Amino acid sequence: MKTSLLPIAGIAVLIPFATGVSHAATLPAPPSSTAEIVAVEAWAFPQEQSSDPSAPVQAQQSAPNATMRVPGSTRSYTLSELGSNFVAPDWFPRDHPPAPHVVLFGRKPAWACGACHYPNGEGDADSATLAGLPKAYIIEQIKAFRDGQRIPPDPSMAEEARNLDDADLQQAADYFSNLKLPPIRRVVGTATVPRTHWDNFVHAPDHDGAREPIGERIIEISNDQKLYDRGDERTGFVAYVPPGSIEAGAKIAAAGTGAAPVCESCHGASLQGADLAGIGIAPPLAGRSPTYIVKELILFRLGKRNNPGAAPMRAEVSRLTLKEMINVAAYAGSRRP
Ligand code: HEC
Ligand code: HEC
Repeated sequence: MKTSLLPIAGIAVLIPFATGVSHAATLPAPPSSTAEIVAVEAWAFPQEQSSDPSAPVQAQQSAPNATMRVPGSTRSYTLSELGSNFVAPDWFPRDHPPAPHVVLFGRKPAWACGACHYPNGEGDADSATLAGLPKAYIIEQIKAFRDGQRIPPDPSMAEEARNLDDADLQQAADYFSNLKLPPIRRVVGTATVPRTHWDNFVHAPDHDGAREPIGERIIEISNDQKLYDRGDERTGFVAYVPPGSIEAGAKIAAAGTGAAPVCESCHGASLQGADLAGIGIAPPLAGRSPTYIVKELILFRLGKRNNPGAAPMRAEVSRLTLKEMINVAAYAGSRRP
């Protein structure tokens, strides 16, 4: 999230990450084709902006020193502060314990974690929830980003991991692992969804209000795009999922697919996460963004997560169809965090 709040008129930034999908062919019996993976990237891999063909001519832009507020907060930030990765807007400081310096302001050249993950660690479809992830898992993933064992679609997190010093990493990991993810997301089964474009790394409804079939997709929208753009972490999201997917996903989580082992056997009975001593740390999945979950399942499949702890997941995803991934992600996202 968060590189520019200043609207960029009609730029489509569509970089198909799947141009290197040759990795998929080296995994055992991949059930999804390359075409399927390209199709899933189109909705599950957030892009900064894409154009809304129905948008009116660009409204006048605010000046960078314009003061911005959100309802219920006494604080204010300038537009340029909101666009900076060295400031995490902390609209509601009483919603979380005091955050370490690196979380709110970064330490140059490392950016503020909260600028993308929010000060309360709730994250979003793009940046991942950090609230409540085990400390050892956070440290393991930062090391994997640094070593190139985990290759994110957008290189900024890998850059951040390399710029972060170990003392700040310890403090940030301590802080985020002690937070609890608030219930900020509704997951709703539906046959049709608003037609959307990308706005600041989230799906935003097109101006004309058009609707289209959901198909085999998850479309996650902020409850208020304007407040989301300002980094208001109380805004929340709604994730639209295919009808029946939550129920189908519940069966996969609890009973497997026949081919794929049961998610709950590693991620815990209510998908709250578990330490699989010696094998890896299975992070919590309950209440997290279902779009993020599908994105990560695809990244395991493409061989972009290769740290030793990812081995069980690489085996798991080689046995899941895309539809099963969507179903189980819908279910996990619908659980109370
Ligand atoms: C510029 C935005 C940005 C900033 C700043 C940022 N992150 Fe991230 N982070 C991301 C994105 C995007 C991802 C998801 C990568 C992917 O797609 O797999 C991510 C993923 C992660 C993950 C993996 C989570 C998981 O569930 O596996 C961890 C841990 C993490 N970030 C920690 C941090 C910490 C600690 C900081 C501050 C020192 C930080 N991040 C700063 C964008 C950011
Ligand atoms: C054999 C144990 C095992 C099983 C079964 C398993 N997982 Fe995992 N899962 C893990 C481990 C370990 C990790 C951490 C990977 C790492 O260290 O990179 C993980 C990570 C993940 C992640 C990445 C989360 C993040 O924060 O980035 C997702 C998503 C996930 N699992 C979903 C699932 C789903 C859905 C199922 C069932 C279809 C499942 N897992 C079954 C062990 C398992």
